[in-house]
Amino acid sequence: MNKIRLGIVGGGGDSLIGVLHRIASQMFDSYEIVGGVFNPNWEENIGFAKEIGLKTDRVYKNFDALIEEENKKSKDERMQAVSVLTPNFLHFPMAKKLLENNFNVICEKPLTTTYAEAQELEKIQKEKKVVFAVTYTYTGYPMVRQMRQMIIDREIGEIQKVDIQYYQGWINPVIHDKEKRSTTWRLQPEKSGISCCMGDIGTHAFNMLEYVTGMKVSSLLSDLNYVYDDNPMDVDGTILIRFSDKIKGVIRTSQIATGEENNITVAIYGSKGAIKWQQENPNFITLLLENEPKKILTPGHLYNSKNSLDITKLPPGHPEGIFDSMGNIYKGVAKAILNKNPIAGEYPTLEEGARGMLFIEKVVESHSSGNTWVSL
Ligand SMILES: NC(=O)c1ccc[n+]([C@@H]2O[C@H](COP(=O)([O-])OP(=O)(O)OC[C@H]3O[C@@H](n4cnc5c(N)ncnc54)[C@H](O)[C@@H]3O)[C@@H](O)[C@H]2O)c1
Repeated sequence: MNKIRLGIVGGGGDSLIGVLHRIASQMFDSYEIVGGVFNPNWEENIGFAKEIGLKTDRVYKNFDALIEEENKKSKDERMQAVSVLTPNFLHFPMAKKLLENNFNVICEKPLTTTYAEAQELEKIQKEKKVVFAVTYTYTGYPMVRQMRQMIIDREIGEIQKVDIQYYQGWINPVIHDKEKRSTTWRLQPEKSGISCCMGDIGTHAFNMLEYVTGMKVSSLLSDLNYVYDDNPMDVDGTILIRFSDKIKGVIRTSQIATGEENNITVAIYGSKGAIKWQQENPNFITLLLENEPKKILTPGHLYNSKNSLDITKLPPGHPEGIFDSMGNIYKGVAKAILNKNPIAGEYPTLEEGARGMLFIEKVVESHSSGNTWVSL
């Protein structure tokens, strides 16, 4: 059997993200899920494993038991990679122990709850030389990969303005209910980290900008909204960013944009034209070139770049969605684990996860110091 033996921690039947990872991992026939810990409650854990038809001999009572028992197995039996899909505060202790025990790791974002923790993971990974991916899901779409390639190839000239919006409305009913806002884990700093909106979706927006432009944000100024005085976590924020003195833009994120679903819209403006992409319509990019008609590009055509075509599974006109996007990231990780030389951008790296943590800390620092410019 040549499939990568995959374990999963978190992502039980009660979770949002578990099904996405399970389906994504099966998409290119590269992984076999061999076990894991899906829930801290044993009945739920084992019950869920049976429900999804998993053999139960490698479903463990808790994470420590997983490490201990897997370490007893021979090299060609042991899990090769483990996906960490638990709430944020568990990412760091779990990822650290996995790295220390030489497992390849696929970890949900935000990577950790502090930048210092993220740096510690980077240090251990350098010593261990295992693969570490952070699942910034939206970078797996064929048209996002196409957009990145066109920008790198200067098809829109030199970048001069960037604008990304990530608007959701799901926290609106939670934030206005005192009981609910004090009980959801996403609004509890000890479980979520120092930020809700920036940690949860601001990191996606920040990563998307750095991913499609191939550039690094150098400084930012943020204005966050907590809505209620007893709420310790931001649920909305606007951030001015600079890549340099001449390349500037804005990140606009909200979880109280009432009625919005998962509205990511990224637009990159260059000296010759612009490219735009929307998550809720992911199979299209709009190309705006000066003095030319607006063009709509779609996946699967030969005009797309090699790295976009490589992850397009069906002929043009067959829509790709969020499961495909995550599947494409798992494909890149599989190449890295099997030493098949993935090219840059085929999966989001630990360095990108750590940049996300630096971003969150700097956003909160800028806001709490009276909306000042801070450098990254
Ligand atoms: N990449 C994305 O687009 C995206 C989208 C949603 C969530 N996420 C991230 O995924 C992570 C999980 O989010 P969610 O919405 O699925 O959370 P959730 O609360 O819906 O589910 C968490 C799961 O982890 C399990 N769990 C909790 N503690 C555990 C432990 N000690 N051992 C084993 N399992 C345990 C729970 O039983 C549950 O099944 C978060 O870090 C979140 O930021 C990422």
